[in-house]
Amino acid sequence: MHPSTSYLLSWIILGAVVASSDTTTSTCDALSSVLSDVFFPESDIYNASISSYPFIQLRLHPTCIVRPKTSQDVSIAVNVLRESGCTKFAVRGGGHNANAGFNNIEDGVTIDMQSMNAVDVDKEVVRVGAGAIWQDVYDVVEPRNLSVLGGRIGVVGVAGLTTGGGISFFSPERGWVCDSVVNFQVVLASGDIVDVNATSRPDLFAGLKGGQNNFGIVTRFDLKAFPQGPIWGGRIAFAPEADTALVSAFTEFKNPHKYDPYAAGWVTLRYNGSTKQFTPTSILWYTRPELKPGALAQMTEVGPQVMNGMQEAYAGEFTRNASLVVKSASSRTIWATTTFHISPTIVHHIHSLWKSLVPKICETYAYARPTSELTFQSLPPSPQNGSHPNSLGFAPDSTPEKDLVFLQIIFYFWDASATEGLNNALKEFIKMFNEIAEEEGVKHKYIYLNFAAWFQDPLGGYGKEQVETLRHVARKYDPEGLFQEQVVGGFKLF
Ligand SMILES: Cc1cc2nc3c(=O)[nH]c(=O)nc-3n(C[C@H](O)[C@H](O)[C@H](O)COP(=O)(O)OP(=O)(O)OC[C@H]3O[C@@H](n4cnc5c(N)ncnc54)[C@H](O)[C@@H]3O)c2cc1C
Ligand SMILES: *[C@@H]1O[C@H](CO)[C@@H](O)[C@H](O)[C@H]1NC(C)=O
Ligand SMILES: *[C@@H]1O[C@H](CO)[C@@H](O)[C@H](O)[C@H]1NC(C)=O
Ligand SMILES: *[C@@H]1O[C@H](CO)[C@@H](O)[C@H](O)[C@H]1NC(C)=O
Ligand SMILES: *[C@@H]1O[C@H](CO)[C@@H](O)[C@H](O)[C@H]1NC(C)=O
Ligand SMILES: *[C@@H]1O[C@H](CO)[C@@H](O)[C@H](O)[C@H]1NC(C)=O
Ligand SMILES: *[C@@H]1O[C@H](CO)[C@@H](O)[C@H](O)[C@H]1NC(C)=O
Repeated sequence: MHPSTSYLLSWIILGAVVASSDTTTSTCDALSSVLSDVFFPESDIYNASISSYPFIQLRLHPTCIVRPKTSQDVSIAVNVLRESGCTKFAVRGGGHNANAGFNNIEDGVTIDMQSMNAVDVDKEVVRVGAGAIWQDVYDVVEPRNLSVLGGRIGVVGVAGLTTGGGISFFSPERGWVCDSVVNFQVVLASGDIVDVNATSRPDLFAGLKGGQNNFGIVTRFDLKAFPQGPIWGGRIAFAPEADTALVSAFTEFKNPHKYDPYAAGWVTLRYNGSTKQFTPTSILWYTRPELKPGALAQMTEVGPQVMNGMQEAYAGEFTRNASLVVKSASSRTIWATTTFHISPTIVHHIHSLWKSLVPKICETYAYARPTSELTFQSLPPSPQNGSHPNSLGFAPDSTPEKDLVFLQIIFYFWDASATEGLNNALKEFIKMFNEIAEEEGVKHKYIYLNFAAWFQDPLGGYGKEQVETLRHVARKYDPEGLFQEQVVGGFKLF
């Protein structure tokens, strides 16, 4: 390279770097001049926004935080951010995705939707502001004897859960949460506020059901409600030696010939690295209490039990109680996931492997006081009869697959310096679990986006054709690639 060219180049690069932090500051000033709810470090509301992220690693420090109150505010913010040409930004719903940088950003702009949490019931449609958490929704619909497909812990956000698929108490009977959306109100890259539904922009309607933050900012979710009374369920803690019986019971529960549309929940094996104790637990629900325990009997009858909290209550009471446990934790939390068909041995094999390796891993990072959880859950059969397509990659007209299990592996810990090592442990575990599933011939390509680690490729798991369709939708509604280039966090299409 000619010396003067390289000199010139270094000036351009230096210029770009300087310009980019300057630009973020001036973008924040521009936002602040047109919107009333823009907050800078040192303000109470800025601090409250940051500390409301549940997991410590999510508490990044943006140059400013925008807290829109209306979809017009969101539109104005999108226009300013687009015109800036390069300011990076993040969009936050309930803030419960564990991947750092997906819902917040260091030195950029965070659009924190939490002020837009209104919930209105109009006959059997529930209109939910995109910053609502599920507790906000249950608290409004249940006094009317209605429910919706939603999260099973109240503090989780409507936005992320729904745009990533969503699994509810009622999913074995009624399918994915995203399929219960009748309309999304969305701010597109152009700043236009539009309705997205089966007759208006149906391609984007399908895209938003699985494509999360790739196309625009959802400002309102219109959800289909249904009549619902209380359900039966709760948590059971088992003695450590009950683990094998619990895994067998879960395996039997997943027998597709015994599929029970009212039985939902999960089984968790937990290892606390500080106490070196294994604790098997189940969290189960039966949505028709008069028919209980149905297919849950296999799991609820396992012993010995240490605590049995099964009771009848409204879904919103279960979700409220569960939130208290989550809120009190505030650890660093990382997770990953994979999917397979049930077989008589697969869950046993995966559990044995985890059980044999996890004490050594926790010992290695003992200074970070890690705890690990291995959870097995059902995937909903999808999609239901006559529903508009989603993007999750399950063939719409095939017989629903009722034998699918996904697992979550989680580490909770208290020291940032263990992050890389524990992420590597997650990667290794997923690789080994996938090998076991492949050896058994039961591996499934789906990777549940809402529990996928940043290093996984859940969009790829929807299938090549789906990814092409989603890319086409992104090009159509966001031709300049605002949501690909400036929204850096999340699982991207390009
Ligand atoms: C305690 C706990 C319980 C859970 N329970 C369930 C459960 O019962 N069922 C289930 O299916 N999953 C469950 N999950 C997983 C959950 O679905 C994901 O964590 C999900 O990301 C949470 O949504 P959020 O709005 O809180 O997330 P956020 O972290 O705020 O958002 C997640 C992603 O969505 C994007 N996004 C947020 N708002 C918008 C918007 N308005 N428009 C466009 N994109 C947006 C963000 O940019 C981000 O990339 C649970 C998770 C936790 C931690
Ligand atoms: C916000 O948090 C920062 C860092 O923790 C602290 O220095 C500052 O005093 C806080 N500001 C307010 C208004 O609480
Ligand atoms: C909800 O159901 C309960 C029990 O059946 C009944 O007592 C109550 O009146 C119902 N509430 C409404 C608003 O319909
Ligand atoms: C779909 O969008 C159109 C256009 O805005 C709107 O008129 C219609 O009411 C929407 N449908 C639903 C179910 O919200
Ligand atoms: C692990 O056990 C210790 C000691 O009882 C406890 O303080 C800690 O909260 C536990 N960790 C988790 C994640 O439950
Ligand atoms: C919720 O917690 C309260 C207080 O501990 C308890 O009385 C109630 O039974 C719990 N309900 C459910 C559904 O867990
Ligand atoms: C789907 O349709 C078939 C045939 O009409 C019906 O038997 C079945 O119960 C329906 N399934 C659901 C989940 O609605």
